[in-house]
Amino acid sequence: MRRLTQIIVAAFAIIVALPMAATAAQPHIIPEPSYMEFEDGADVFSLTQNTKIIVYDDAWDSAAVFAEDIQKHFNLKRPLRLAKRGNGIKVRTDKFVPAEGYEMTINAKEVIITGGSEAGIFYGLQTLRQMAVEFNGQIPCGYIADEPSFAYRGVHFDVSRHFFSVDDVKRYIDILAAHKVNRLHWHLTDDQGWRIEIKRYPELTAKGSMRSETLVGHGLNPEKWDGTPHGGYYTQEEVRDIVRYAEQRYITIIPEIEMPGHAQAALHALPWLGCNEQIVDVWTTWGVTPEVMCAGKETTYEFLENVLTEVIDLFPSELIHIGGDECPKDRWKECEHCQAKIKAEGLENEEQLQGYLVARIEKFIISKGRKMIGWDEILDGGVTPTATVMSWRGIKGGIYAAERGNEVVMTPMTLCYFNFYQTESREGEGLQIGGHIPFEMVYAWDPYAGFSEEAKDKVIGVQCNMWTEYLKDMATVEKMLLPRLAAMAEVQWATERRDETTIRSKMEVMREFYNSCGWNCAPYYFDGRK
Ligand code: ACM
Ligand code: ZN
Repeated sequence: MRRLTQIIVAAFAIIVALPMAATAAQPHIIPEPSYMEFEDGADVFSLTQNTKIIVYDDAWDSAAVFAEDIQKHFNLKRPLRLAKRGNGIKVRTDKFVPAEGYEMTINAKEVIITGGSEAGIFYGLQTLRQMAVEFNGQIPCGYIADEPSFAYRGVHFDVSRHFFSVDDVKRYIDILAAHKVNRLHWHLTDDQGWRIEIKRYPELTAKGSMRSETLVGHGLNPEKWDGTPHGGYYTQEEVRDIVRYAEQRYITIIPEIEMPGHAQAALHALPWLGCNEQIVDVWTTWGVTPEVMCAGKETTYEFLENVLTEVIDLFPSELIHIGGDECPKDRWKECEHCQAKIKAEGLENEEQLQGYLVARIEKFIISKGRKMIGWDEILDGGVTPTATVMSWRGIKGGIYAAERGNEVVMTPMTLCYFNFYQTESREGEGLQIGGHIPFEMVYAWDPYAGFSEEAKDKVIGVQCNMWTEYLKDMATVEKMLLPRLAAMAEVQWATERRDETTIRSKMEVMREFYNSCGWNCAPYYFDGRK
């Protein structure tokens, strides 16, 4: 009797929580699945508080994340229950399904998701989640077979220019997960703040994580600063917590430790890292500073290896990002240590000295069983065949690297810098760094354009970047990310783009999904502004 009462009470709760929707129609899923079969007017599977998730393999993380997400979307009293047997949403793996892919069969009684891996199950559940929200729990019966186009589907987050809390980073990860992104490139160090605790060098965060103030505006005449200190950092315990949180959502975090440039915060903390050991501040201005690490002194290499040892211990990612971009050579030209190193190593100039530093650091990273990735400046001093290159200064670096046999990630600035304005008029967008990347431009992008057939194989993926000079809070970050991330997810995951009308109707549905998640999405695309 007690059980029956429970069932009646629960069923009533669900009727209240999930009112019946009209009969099923074609689902609008972003990114577009590889194959879908849905018939108008077909039966529906009713997702209710009583729906169980039956986990056959080990995909408990995926199931738990889904259960909690559904609870939030529908304001349920409890997350959906996970079980080892019974009826409901059944998730399992099968080696005949592509690694990150999944197949999903929905009938009136059950949903069966078969992933090529636990990640595949996770992506299947993300698709089901979108459908649950679109159809208010009354999910149309049908069939989906899906797999990603690119293995590396990245989004970057700069937490140096502005610091974002652990909860903010987790929220960012939630947004990526809903778009089937699988890499978070975490930009942890730069001139304006060192954000990760390194036990061996406590000064890095004690001194290097706080700047005294921040430039106001673009720094055109007259320059002004806000007089407000800004800072923050993640303890190693917090880093481990974030790494685990991301792993539960099948996102690998790639840490970036900038070297030898973009390191003024580190030089402030440890002046012996610089050529002239002069005291510099944690930078309060944006741009490219001449204050860089000395590439001549052995103590710099020792420092970098010690830092990377701790970083590698914290992050299981195979790829470790060493920055390498925008390193002026002014100090090196005047430095006796740098000049002595150039001579001793038989190098021709300062560019080659940077190549020497990068190659030496790569060797160290490989000795730890990992792989190095860097911005495309790592090509300038002569890149090794094993480095992965992130092409940001356009597409030329990526093409050159791929033709030489290096793996590449395409993130050309004019298409992938999501800190750029979304409209031409810039009205209502607040002050941003510049540029112009509307939704449509991202959606139309072919990352293979310009590559030979052979070199295409070396493009492991695509990434968009969120630099935060002008982004001070999560609401603004979200507004820059959404809805453009939906377009990027289509480029990363789907094999082909749809026509303008179809993507627009998909995006109207996605906008409702963002609302249901409580995420701040920019209105411009929906208002027809670009
Ligand atoms: C970069 O935007 N400096 C990689
Ligand atoms: Zn030097």
